Amino acid sequence: MSHSGIREISNIAVGMPGTIRLDVGQPNFRTPDHISEAGKRAIDDGYTFYTHTQGLIDLRERLVAKLQKINHYSVTPEQIACASGGVGAIAAALAAILEPGDEVLLPDPGWPNYRMMPPWLGARAVYYPLLAEHDYLPDLERLESLVTPRTRVLLINSPANPTGAVFPRGVIEALAEVAVRHDLWLLSDECYDQILFEGEHVGPASFLDDGRVITVYTFSKTYAMTGWRLGYAVGEAGLIDTVTKVLESNTSGPSTIAQKAAEAALDGPQECVAEMVAAYAHRRDLAVDLLRESGLLVSIPQGAFYVMADVSGAEGDSRRFALRLVRERGVSVAPGTAFGRVGAGMVRISLASSDEDLREGIPRLAEAVRDWKT
Ligand SMILES: Cc1ncc(COP(=O)(O)O)c(C=O)c1O
Repeated sequence: MSHSGIREISNIAVGMPGTIRLDVGQPNFRTPDHISEAGKRAIDDGYTFYTHTQGLIDLRERLVAKLQKINHYSVTPEQIACASGGVGAIAAALAAILEPGDEVLLPDPGWPNYRMMPPWLGARAVYYPLLAEHDYLPDLERLESLVTPRTRVLLINSPANPTGAVFPRGVIEALAEVAVRHDLWLLSDECYDQILFEGEHVGPASFLDDGRVITVYTFSKTYAMTGWRLGYAVGEAGLIDTVTKVLESNTSGPSTIAQKAAEAALDGPQECVAEMVAAYAHRRDLAVDLLRESGLLVSIPQGAFYVMADVSGAEGDSRRFALRLVRERGVSVAPGTAFGRVGAGMVRISLASSDEDLREGIPRLAEAVRDWKT
């Protein structure tokens, strides 16, 4: 098991002050004040004790309303388990389902943390490709050909990291059909459900209610709350009970203070979300223009906050390129190699970086591709 290939670059960038950071997958905005204030108040009001492992009932009741309003389906609080970030919820869901020797279908390119989970469960990751020439949407026939008698879980991620693809309703429906046909659990990572520039976000839970869908969300991206570490898994009550046992065994539930702040996030004005999404959309346009000018544009992201750049013109793979770029040109990006094989000739640029950093960093990157031509 290796470390996340994004961290390899980030760790170098951290030690080089002045580096233009285009590698980080977290909003450069501070958590909105009314949310932070609620966190501080929670400490003063004595919310410093354990909660129910699945999270405060008040929070879960608010999440029921959020799921109804934003994600268009109904659940009960028993069907929600809060965890330490979306990552904690995904890991707990996989741990609840997978037995040694089982297989899980993961996207390539896909978020590196997914690929780190099956090894410690004794399970095997099998990758389905998302190709740029197919707008980073799955080729369903190819995906289905990867299903074996040991396949238990199909993991999907839309809006997607690192490609910014948003799967249309028809694709989500077809993926759900694959899951039904082969009796798979469908784990839908919707951590970017509210970071959308165009089109609609559709989750399989909004139309499939036979109990096989587990959806994961987070406060990290929507409310710029990465450091608070709060996400949640939603699914059929029996499965969520097993997820809860996993969470009991490894964290005993997420921070109570973060949960109180999250309540304020859900209760408070939602303009902050719209403002941040508008800022990402503006940066998306800026980055797309800069990449197009230099011939490095791969596709136009529709959601999440990343854009891919084609660096295949430079020598070596994108890991080597990213290492050289940070050391010699002072710009850090996430190498495509960190996300799988498909992205080997690309790097990921985060739109969660400032406008100035994008304006300065992308031309430097383009210049490096030219200078390091094969
Ligand atoms: C695709 C995807 N899923 C899940 C997460 C989990 O985020 P967190 O654990 O902060 O909620 C991330 C974070 O970068 C992500 O990119």
